[in-house]
Amino acid sequence: MHIHSSAQPLVQAKTDILLVFFPENPKAGKSLPEAVSFFLREFEKTKQFSGKKGEAIWVHRPKGLQSEWLLLFGLGNISKIDETTLIARIGHGIRVSLSKKRPAVAIGFHDVKVPPASLVNLTGIAAHHAAYQFDQYKPEPGTKPAFEPKITIHGGRVASPLKEINAIGDAISYAKNIANQPPNVITPATLAKEAVTLGKKFKLSVAVWDEQRLKKEGFGGILAVGNGSENSPRFIRIDYRGGRSGAAPVCVVGKAITFDSGGISIKPSDRMDEMKFDKCGGVAVLGILRAVATLKLKINVTGLIASAENLPSSTAYRPGDLVKNLSGKYIEVLNTDAEGRIVLSDALTYASRLKPRAIVDLATLTGACIVALGSEAAGLMGNDARLIAQLEKAAEHSGERLWQLPLYTEFHDKVKSDIGFVKNTAGREGGTSTAATFLNAFVEDSIPWAHLDIAGTAWTTKEESHRAKGATGFGVGVVVEWLRGLR
Ligand code: BES
Ligand code: MN
Ligand code: ZN
Repeated sequence: MHIHSSAQPLVQAKTDILLVFFPENPKAGKSLPEAVSFFLREFEKTKQFSGKKGEAIWVHRPKGLQSEWLLLFGLGNISKIDETTLIARIGHGIRVSLSKKRPAVAIGFHDVKVPPASLVNLTGIAAHHAAYQFDQYKPEPGTKPAFEPKITIHGGRVASPLKEINAIGDAISYAKNIANQPPNVITPATLAKEAVTLGKKFKLSVAVWDEQRLKKEGFGGILAVGNGSENSPRFIRIDYRGGRSGAAPVCVVGKAITFDSGGISIKPSDRMDEMKFDKCGGVAVLGILRAVATLKLKINVTGLIASAENLPSSTAYRPGDLVKNLSGKYIEVLNTDAEGRIVLSDALTYASRLKPRAIVDLATLTGACIVALGSEAAGLMGNDARLIAQLEKAAEHSGERLWQLPLYTEFHDKVKSDIGFVKNTAGREGGTSTAATFLNAFVEDSIPWAHLDIAGTAWTTKEESHRAKGATGFGVGVVVEWLRGLR
């Protein structure tokens, strides 16, 4: 979807819907066209509108305006909110406007004290999220009324950043589309096919390791986790080369368990269906590479995806198994449901061998992360303060929140195995940090590495006011924002 920007005054916008955002108790001001001001005063007088959060007033055929509808929308008190909350509030207004099922929406702001360029960017992101819906499998395909939103943001003097925001927004929607696919459609093999298709479309080179090649090259972690399923595992490598040839790449690594039943350590059946979203880290990597290629960033990026289906069967790996991973080290399996770290141990070993300038991995790794942070932020851990700081800054700008959790030395002892190198669980305490500490053991210390635990942020279980239920595409925005800052 393409979001447009326009320097044209709001009053002149010939559109289906004119959507104007106000903060709580907006100040009257010259920037507001008299025709809109008129309605604001009327509704303030009758106490129907004061810009409170989520307040919405529709006016049909507003006098003095070129649009069929005027929608006044309240953002509430925005003096103390961050980018994430602002995106959500703007997105709410856009969702309300789209509920009229009229395509052309022109957006304006009044008295919203955010720098115009960043307001346009945040609104662009909000619009992409608000307009997204996953209806591919709804009844009567093709007979749904054609309704392609055409959203224009007014008042932004800058037109070019929207090109970039659209590239990022499209990559996020693309990631949502794959992540929302059911687990009988997206298997490790079909995920690899998606990567190949993406590569053809965006001129990325893609290599896929099937079971045979994984065996030959010693990817014991991915093979062990995938062994319980007829849908055999895959390792996927996607290369984007926008930098100097030979310049060290950034590695972006993702966990893509296409369905996580827990394996022999099987999960409760309640809400197990949500474990189709256990591929979201790997899918985010696809989205990131797509955005990087569209934006033509002047760096080298290598995406690595470790994909398997975690099922119980007579061939499944078991608690007690010792798994020799790509590094040649032995992982003691205590719980087959802690499978993400096992597949990632191969991918991180592989990444380290590429001598990259940095590694960032994304994974729906631990339920403990949801306990710690809810679904408001992803967990951020790593071995390099500079990289952590860069990612924190990118998080602010993108609106995809990251919150740092510790990697204390004490955690290293907790993941040590009595009979092998590491064990795959260290109990409930500090579960997100011990999982990351396990990953850390497979990254060379000299390589800056960060881990994003997106278990709480990768999907939503309820329809929200600013976005649809299902995959959120989380990770694409923040990582691409970080990559854009590299040179
Ligand atoms: N994919 C899950 C983590 C998860 C659970 C993400 C719920 C989102 C929602 C992961 O593979 C897992 O099962 N982790 C276990 C680890 C435990 C066995 C040490 C967990 O978090 O319970
Ligand atoms: Mn699991
Ligand atoms: Zn999992």
